[in-house]
Amino acid sequence: MKFKLQAQDKLSKARAGEITTDHGTIQTPIFMPVGTAGTVKAVHQHELKDDIQAQIILGNTYHLYLRPGLDVLESAGGLHKFNGWNGPILTDSGGYQVYSLSEVRKIKEEGVTFRSHIDGSKHLFTPENVMDIQRTIGADIIMAFDECTPYPCDYIYAKKSIEMTHRWLKRCCERFDNTEPKYGYSQTLFPIVQGSVYKDLRVKSAEVIASFEREGNAIGGLSVGEPAEEMYAMTEIVCDILPEQKPRYLMGVGTPVNILENIALGIDMFDCVMPTRNARNGMLFTKNGIINIKNEKWKNDFSAIEDDSDLATDRFYTKAYLRHLIHSGEMLGAQIATLHNLHFYLWLVKEARNKIMSGEFYDWKKTMVNRLAQRL
Ligand code: GUN
Repeated sequence: MKFKLQAQDKLSKARAGEITTDHGTIQTPIFMPVGTAGTVKAVHQHELKDDIQAQIILGNTYHLYLRPGLDVLESAGGLHKFNGWNGPILTDSGGYQVYSLSEVRKIKEEGVTFRSHIDGSKHLFTPENVMDIQRTIGADIIMAFDECTPYPCDYIYAKKSIEMTHRWLKRCCERFDNTEPKYGYSQTLFPIVQGSVYKDLRVKSAEVIASFEREGNAIGGLSVGEPAEEMYAMTEIVCDILPEQKPRYLMGVGTPVNILENIALGIDMFDCVMPTRNARNGMLFTKNGIINIKNEKWKNDFSAIEDDSDLATDRFYTKAYLRHLIHSGEMLGAQIATLHNLHFYLWLVKEARNKIMSGEFYDWKKTMVNRLAQRL
């Protein structure tokens, strides 16, 4: 993997760059649609590629390991061959899903034991086997196995937790560096900064993570319920320590406003379930604010979802029709709303990139932040 810094904003810490992987290049800042179980829910691969120009998608170790399982993924020749998405893929390590989804879990130095949310079967994730699993899934970018602390989290716990996450990182690197990719293209490992909302712990964690000198770095443990201002404060401290010449990935963030604010602090990569999950409940993100398409107000609105959109489905379907589909639980409703939201998120980061390149980012961001949070 390579990263080239192409432009830096003068009035903020925003940057534009380009990541090169064996499955293609990614222009940053970028948003990565979440494809938990090997599918971005309700979206075809050809729509991702041709209609909304997604540049990289995410998969989850936890889900893919439990179902379809590693034997199927290996027989297929890796996730790219299995699902037909030929662009870059990043997999999260399970260091988050294990805590949020599985029923019983025990965190020990060795790793985490948990029970599957599907059939109750018992499993163990360790830093070593999580590297092996992601090698087998075949992601281009794989994530270190970490502990994502909840919010709130007491200081003593958060301190002990980063110390373990750092020890786990050493084990991840040893395993990763002593194993080979399985499918003939290269893979890279990103470590994850933790430290809850404590400045000194974030500084310590960022220093340790940077000292591993991997090709890119991530920030985790944010957007877990803390106020946005605390999230921004942590991002700022950490970005000042992480190396400038490597991509920075903020995990699980966030709203359109969160994304712009964090771009301004020096983040290059984002993922979040919000555009896909909220779409299925009728929440549409637009350039002018947020629409709850289920509201009575759209019942007889036969105007296009967005008449000046360059996405054909936005121009073709009306708000009233989409409202009807979502109210009726029709699958087409989820498809239209998801494609709309992902198209919007990808437009937002592309526009941010253009504005960074043209030197207009700072003023543009200010205007957009006020507009994007409005309820229409
Ligand atoms: N996704 C969102 N936050 C996190 C985190 O802290 N760790 C991991 N592994 N994934 C995440």
